[in-house]
Amino acid sequence: MFTRRALLAGAAAGIAASGLARPHIARAAAPFRQPDLPFAEDALAPTISSQTVNLHYGKHHAAYFKTLNDLVGGTPYEAMALGDIVKASAEKDADRKIFNNAGQAWNHVFYWEQFKPGGAKAPAGDLLAAVDKDLGGLDKMKTDLVAAAGGVFGSGWAWLVSDKGKLSLEGTPGGDSPFAHGRTPLLGVDVWEHAYYLDYQNRRADHVKAVLDTIVNWDVVAERMKG
Ligand SMILES: [Fe+2]
Repeated sequence: MFTRRALLAGAAAGIAASGLARPHIARAAAPFRQPDLPFAEDALAPTISSQTVNLHYGKHHAAYFKTLNDLVGGTPYEAMALGDIVKASAEKDADRKIFNNAGQAWNHVFYWEQFKPGGAKAPAGDLLAAVDKDLGGLDKMKTDLVAAAGGVFGSGWAWLVSDKGKLSLEGTPGGDSPFAHGRTPLLGVDVWEHAYYLDYQNRRADHVKAVLDTIVNWDVVAERMKG
């Protein structure tokens, strides 16, 4: 579970402060503060090493927040919640830089929240039923999500998505996400090289498979499906 400190930090970044944190419920406005990492940097090892988490959270994710705060100063985005910025800037070519950084700030909060140090628990209940019905079962879903991650050309994300309760898989480039376009992501796997290159070099598929098999907190994924 998340610590109270982490949840309060989440509120500062526009994330629900009660129950499981859900970044699509965005409240706060700028300046946005990166939420605390909800576990120790070495907690995801060996699937994701301490060094990768240190750089990924402490440098890459932090930089998206800093750049976003620099960019939104003096603009209408300054008064908006983080999630609203993502959605509002998604279709505006002139605001692409804001979208890229807001998207990546949001995506990574979503990313860190979904992991469970010490091992995964299999999905159950309504989530498992939906995976069986829409995606051919857990094993096929994992195989197809690895394939979706492999299909992302360059940097991006692979997602398990709910669109009004129907599950699907997709890949998105850069800082884009299903959330930016009104759908509900349930699980997001970062396939930028910074997420895996130190640990897996070019073996993106091995990384994604290991993430799915060992550190996903399926309780968080199920909670996200409830909306
Ligand atoms: Fe990343």
